[in-house]
Amino acid sequence: MKKIIFGGTIVTSSEIYPADILIEDEKIQLISKDLPINPNIETIDATGMYVLPGGVDVHTHFDLPMFGTVSSDDHYSGHKAAALGGTTTVIDFVPQNSESLIKDIDVWHKKADENAAIDFGFHMNITKFTSQISDEIPSLIDEGITSLKVFTAYNNTLRLDDRNIFQVMRIAAEFGFLTLLHAENGDIIEILVEEAIAKGNRSPIWHARTRPSWGAVEAVVRGVSFAAQTGAPLYIVHMNAAGEVDQLQYARDHHIKVMGETCPQYLFFNESFLEREDGAKWICSPPMRSISDNIRLWEGLSNGIIQVLATDHCPFFFDGTHSIEYEGKQVRIPGKELGRSDFRLIPNGLPAVGDRLPIFWTEGVVKRKLTLNQFVAITSTNPAKIFGMYPQKGTILPGSDADLVIWDPNKKLVYGRKVAQHRTDYNLFEDWNLSGFPIKVFLRGNLIVDGLQWNGSRGQGRYLKRSPNAYIL
Ligand code: URP
Ligand code: ZN
Ligand code: ZN
Repeated sequence: MKKIIFGGTIVTSSEIYPADILIEDEKIQLISKDLPINPNIETIDATGMYVLPGGVDVHTHFDLPMFGTVSSDDHYSGHKAAALGGTTTVIDFVPQNSESLIKDIDVWHKKADENAAIDFGFHMNITKFTSQISDEIPSLIDEGITSLKVFTAYNNTLRLDDRNIFQVMRIAAEFGFLTLLHAENGDIIEILVEEAIAKGNRSPIWHARTRPSWGAVEAVVRGVSFAAQTGAPLYIVHMNAAGEVDQLQYARDHHIKVMGETCPQYLFFNESFLEREDGAKWICSPPMRSISDNIRLWEGLSNGIIQVLATDHCPFFFDGTHSIEYEGKQVRIPGKELGRSDFRLIPNGLPAVGDRLPIFWTEGVVKRKLTLNQFVAITSTNPAKIFGMYPQKGTILPGSDADLVIWDPNKKLVYGRKVAQHRTDYNLFEDWNLSGFPIKVFLRGNLIVDGLQWNGSRGQGRYLKRSPNAYIL
């Protein structure tokens, strides 16, 4: 059935204008003022509201085995929470676990395809590099995977040495992949962790103290130098330190093809949160830094040095010995309590996929005066462009998927776990007062969120094959 969203104000990354939107066959067919209505057309009144393209979160970890447990949102519950917060597309990371990347991707499809509730793509982690893997990487383009994540930390598990990162980036340059860099210094972390443990320093704050921001800054410079020498574009994930923003600015000023994302946790929190009694809730890697880092990251977003706000959503229960109710069932998954006596054993990661848009609206648009266009660019259009999904995703244009969010700028609510509905027992933004919230969310024209009500279903999300040689912003 055709649908018309009428009376709203459309916001894209470059325009703001009043218009109606005709939706047919999951796509936006027409955008015009005063579209004619007839009884065969369902109408949705958006008077007084903004109509935004669905959010695009390019950094999630659903159902990820880690630290002897698993991230507590799977590809259904995580997608549902994303949608409730106005996000309609996510990209999740496929871990490299076997001798074949294609086998690893199949494993991730088995987890995701039948559970997906919004549209989704995959990045591939490259954590072991052999001549067989080198030969296999180009075939990922046929799988619709056009981005490869490499790590300069996690010695002996995820880390690639510089020689291998350089080789991956050469392949990336040749075939049009985007390389994603987790920037920290694995060797220095190893030394600092050994020293901390030898001195009996095992509380959560030592997670941050053993992963210094200089390591992140230095690894960004290293990545930038590889981008310059290979000609491959580079994207720095989960930027957390002022010095990383400085390096990104330097590289971009020198016309190196480098871009970056930050995440809500790095904008609002700092390492002192790890000293709280419930500090484990904030454990993630890289760690949160200081208030001056928060400020520089905000600056980076507002002046365009950083292009994307993603989340690195990787939730764990704070107390996985107690269950929560989720969709009428009791659920409990081992979580942060695993590291109660040793920070090394605390699962790294936190919930954020549903928080991203509502928190960024209140804190970014309402309080820090980012423009509406910046809000859409940073949360939807830029990630869709950088990751080869534009203009199918990330905008409101005829022919684009009808992934639309009706946003009420006047809606006030007290936010927290019950609203967010991540499948975990805490929310970092508990009791925050929000001004502005998504009130209807459409996935390819289907109303999947109505008010705070979930109308979507498991399996309705589609896998997105993404294009190589995407935009460099
Ligand atoms: O603590 C985090 N961020 N866990 C996810 C893994 C990663 O490096 O993104
Ligand atoms: Zn990472
Ligand atoms: Zn991550």
